[in-house]
Amino acid sequence: MSKIGLFFGTDTGNTETVSENLIESLTELTGQEIVDLHEIYQKKAEDVAKYDLLIFGQPTWYDGELQGDWEEFIPELKKIDFKGKKVALFGLGDQYGYASYFCDSIGIFAEMIEQLGGEIVGFTSSDGYEHDFSKAQRGDQFVGLCLDVDNEDELTEERVDAWLPQVLKAFDL
Ligand SMILES: Cc1cc2nc3c(=O)[nH]c(=O)nc-3n(C[C@H](O)[C@H](O)[C@H](O)COP(=O)(O)O)c2cc1C
Repeated sequence: MSKIGLFFGTDTGNTETVSENLIESLTELTGQEIVDLHEIYQKKAEDVAKYDLLIFGQPTWYDGELQGDWEEFIPELKKIDFKGKKVALFGLGDQYGYASYFCDSIGIFAEMIEQLGGEIVGFTSSDGYEHDFSKAQRGDQFVGLCLDVDNEDELTEERVDAWLPQVLKAFDL
């Protein structure tokens, strides 16, 4: 079975916690340890490029900004040929405190990855969220999974559980 590379960046640990839970769920769903977990901090293009199946996790910070380690990774990202690669994105954000920038970072990354030839998988409905604007939104969908552990952490598990089978299907796993 192919290996999935899960890369996350975090400032206060929430995205790391969600990433660890994702791995547990993926192991349960597939019955195999198919995910390698990496923090994106100081990673190089080749660390990511060796996977054809990728999950990127990232919070949005400071009015629509990328998390710092992901921001620093952009020159490396641009060296990667994403043709033939599938990427699922999950973002953490605060839909009330930052209603005009909710989960922007995964929208910014989706565009960059598509321009580099990659396919974004794992779109989700934006129903049930109360933000005003998000760069992650296309029509009535987000380009990945948006999680708001600040305001509705009680929904995180069910949102993840609904999303992962969809991602595995898109990954042909
Ligand atoms: C100063 C500050 C700025 C933030 N800016 C945004 C933002 O622009 N958009 C958003 O959706 N969430 C924003 N958030 C919420 C964080 O993304 C959220 O708390 C997230 O869970 C943090 O993840 P981490 O612990 O992995 O860094 C902000 C939070 C703080 C404290």
